[in-house]
Amino acid sequence: MKAVLVENYDNIGNIPIKEVARPELSAGMVRVRIQAAAVGFVDGLKVQGLYQTKDPLPFTPGSEFAGIVDEAAADVKDFAPGTPVIGMVINGGLAEYICVPAGDLFVTPKGIEPEVGASFFANYLTALYALSARGKLQRGETLLVLGAAGGVGIAAVQVGKLLGARVIAATSTEEKRKFAINHGADAGLDYTGEGWRDELKELTGGQGADVIYDPVGGDLSLQAFRSIAWNGRHLVIGFASGTIPALRFNLPLLKGGALLGVDLAQIGRREPEVRDQVIAQLFTWLSEKTLVPVVGKVFAFEEFHEAFKAMTTRSALGKMVVRIG
Ligand SMILES: NC(=O)c1ccc[n+]([C@@H]2O[C@H](COP(=O)([O-])OP(=O)(O)OC[C@H]3O[C@@H](n4cnc5c(N)ncnc54)[C@H](OP(=O)(O)O)[C@@H]3O)[C@@H](O)[C@H]2O)c1
Repeated sequence: MKAVLVENYDNIGNIPIKEVARPELSAGMVRVRIQAAAVGFVDGLKVQGLYQTKDPLPFTPGSEFAGIVDEAAADVKDFAPGTPVIGMVINGGLAEYICVPAGDLFVTPKGIEPEVGASFFANYLTALYALSARGKLQRGETLLVLGAAGGVGIAAVQVGKLLGARVIAATSTEEKRKFAINHGADAGLDYTGEGWRDELKELTGGQGADVIYDPVGGDLSLQAFRSIAWNGRHLVIGFASGTIPALRFNLPLLKGGALLGVDLAQIGRREPEVRDQVIAQLFTWLSEKTLVPVVGKVFAFEEFHEAFKAMTTRSALGKMVVRIG
């Protein structure tokens, strides 16, 4: 089968598609023929060996996929061949086939295309877990989403609206603000200008944002925290800007605000019941079509490099997806 193969940590331009052995089934596992895989910011760091954990070489990147069950091990009951599934893994998504534990797979709700299924898990699970379980976002509160047109950002815009918040989408370009507004944001904010905190103040009637969803980091996070409402919650999602900010403790004191970390990788282990509730809610929304996950751009398998480049050049709108097979 064909798979993107990282044999040395390198720039994405030097990473090839290679012919490798199709993965063999073992007990408890399901082999899936992949139809689409999504590429996130973390995947871009992993291929270069720049992520906080290094995947042992060689590896195939891609942590989210949608496909069709090819075959299940004899001890697996729920996944007959031909069943459409979606899944989230540490790596291996950018390949024609993958073998995964049955417990990591979910049957795709009816009517969900592979590109949509592949774009769904990491970003929407992060957004709903962050906003509901961590941020306790309440109906009628104001949510400020930083990097609102990126993968996790646009998910937070949509989920924030579904939870009944007023959503302010902060981005670097007009095109990105339009994109966020088209997906439900109530207002856009250009956070590259000097006076953006004044504009935020105006948009929130002088109160600041009740919840800040922050996948960007850097100096922007420090400025945003200064504009948090009393009893506000600042959700630490990631550091796409490349810089981890250092907040002085007097600011949470003065603002009556809280800084809350969110780590998707730990939810299943630390809060399995919460994770299951969040997934159940997302699947209900998906089935009802209340939530239609945003597919940013779809690339052919041979063009997978471009999906990665879109993110590293800060030009991506939503999640980048690679169509396989
Ligand atoms: N905590 C978790 O569980 C979790 C889960 C998923 C992802 N994440 C993290 O969330 C972050 C964003 O991931 P993503 O997949 O949404 O990425 P993405 O689609 O590339 O979006 C990131 C956004 O950050 C902004 N940005 C600001 N400075 C940037 C820079 N120097 N380079 C690139 N983007 C920059 C961009 O918006 P503007 O151009 O509008 O500024 C961009 O749209 C990453 O750090 C990722 O690791 C965390």
